[in-house]
Amino acid sequence: MALTIVFGYSGYLLPWDSLAYGAAVIGINLANSSPLVGKQIATLLFGGSALTPRTVTRMYFIHVFILPVIVTGLIIVHLFIVWVQGIAEPH
Ligand code: HEM
Repeated sequence: MALTIVFGYSGYLLPWDSLAYGAAVIGINLANSSPLVGKQIATLLFGGSALTPRTVTRMYFIHVFILPVIVTGLIIVHLFIVWVQGIAEPH
């Protein structure tokens, strides 16, 4: 579910219109105001501690590469566990 929320947020920023920009301002302010690792999180997710065109590139990469790779990996692990344990019979 968390991954789907990140999919939704990163996809929502992609059109880079006024709605997306507003959501990006909220996100980067949240990251920047987080204690200790806030600036690093902002750089990792938004490509810096301020919104730049790099933010869109970063969100696009997260949306169409990082997240699909993570989800595909989890599906493979899930199918492997089903294969090892078998499907539970009804009691
Ligand atoms: C659970 C999965 C996903 C969710 C919830 C999701 C959500 C979204 C949302 C909300 C948008 C914004 C649409 C808009 O306002 O125009 C978007 C755009 C986009 N998504 Fe996804 N997405 C998902 C999976 C994917 C995948 C797997 C890809 C490709 C590998 C992808 C590629 C794109 C692209 C290219 C856009 C930009 C389209 C545009 O702005 O017109 N998405 N996504």
